[in-house]
Amino acid sequence: MSDTLVWISGASSGIGKALADKVPWENARIIDISRRGHSDAEHLEADLSDAASWAKVAESFQRELSDFSGERVVFVHAAGSVQPIGFAGEVDTESYNRNVLLNSAAGQVLGHAFLAAAREVDADRYLIMLSSGAASLVGAGWSSYGAGKAALDQWVRDVGAEQDQRGGVRVVAVAPGVVATVMQEQIRETSKEDFPKRDKFMDLYERGELSDPDEVAGQLWALVQKGFDNGAVLDLREE
Ligand SMILES: NC(=O)c1ccc[n+]([C@@H]2O[C@H](COP(=O)([O-])OP(=O)(O)OC[C@H]3O[C@@H](n4cnc5c(N)ncnc54)[C@H](OP(=O)(O)O)[C@@H]3O)[C@@H](O)[C@H]2O)c1
Repeated sequence: MSDTLVWISGASSGIGKALADKVPWENARIIDISRRGHSDAEHLEADLSDAASWAKVAESFQRELSDFSGERVVFVHAAGSVQPIGFAGEVDTESYNRNVLLNSAAGQVLGHAFLAAAREVDADRYLIMLSSGAASLVGAGWSSYGAGKAALDQWVRDVGAEQDQRGGVRVVAVAPGVVATVMQEQIRETSKEDFPKRDKFMDLYERGELSDPDEVAGQLWALVQKGFDNGAVLDLREE
């Protein structure tokens, strides 16, 4: 059995993929939860914008943790999407509904499932939510994305306080800064009509100011290893 068991949602691309590539513990078992999969990790195929997929992830937590006797277990929820970018009331309803389920609901439901499965596990246990500056900045064009990240931040504050009282799982939300991933490409490809702040992201890109996903992953794992206040909502650029 591996000493370290890590689930990462969204490890098929971008920051989640870099996190899977840069896991700092040797012989870690890594399970990617996404639609496409990571080339070197185990793949739990799930479309997390479909609520029917969440039970499958919860079952994986229960199954793997029921007899776990290693040193640490980690769940990083990195899956997220800005699509559809555009104004509420104008964008496609089905896509908007999926965005709400993925960004607002999936993290809370899967976080709860991880805590339930990890409750009796005698190991270091970490739950990390990928947040965003969008949680607190006004962002016309990504209302459900920003609202989803704000919901995750508050969930982490509350659950961190709970786990400090009993439970002992370390819980944190981390905004990674502006990182060179497909998500940023999608933002740059959007019209200004749908996303009025687009030029700010164009400028950052043209000035070469986007962070590298591998560096961000290294910083995030260093933060986990250094330790953090339970329930903290952090911005990697300030750490
Ligand atoms: N890049 C930035 O500047 C930035 C800034 C702030 C916060 N973040 C946050 O960082 C996290 C990672 O973003 P990224 O920039 O790395 O984006 P990315 O390259 O677009 O990757 C997004 C990941 O989320 C997964 N995902 C998306 N929709 C999914 C669905 N319906 N079901 C399952 N998985 C899904 C994707 O996997 P599949 O497509 O294979 O399903 C992919 O692995 C997100 O939570 C994002 O909000 C990013």
